[in-house]
Amino acid sequence: MPILTVKTDKRNITVEKGSSIIDVCETEETSILFGCRDGACGACMIRVVEHPENLSPMEEHEKDFLETMAAREDERLACQCKVLGDVTIEVSE
Ligand code: FES
Repeated sequence: MPILTVKTDKRNITVEKGSSIIDVCETEETSILFGCRDGACGACMIRVVEHPENLSPMEEHEKDFLETMAAREDERLACQCKVLGDVTIEVSE
């Protein structure tokens, strides 16, 4: 099973493949915060430190929002991501 590493919290969490980050982070009480849960507020912005290819691909509305926010290339909206393999994330500053 994939391991979601939340670098900010120094936690390695084993998850089912296809789990949404929002569900894992809320169950595990990580320091990643969520607002709208719909890709519209930016509260859940994360940096993908390792293995971005192991997150679900970006859909158009996430891409548009990140462009509007002038996000870095390694930033994603945690509420829009599913874990497909080992991946390391941290809270975006
Ligand atoms: S919780 Fe609002 S964009 Fe993710």
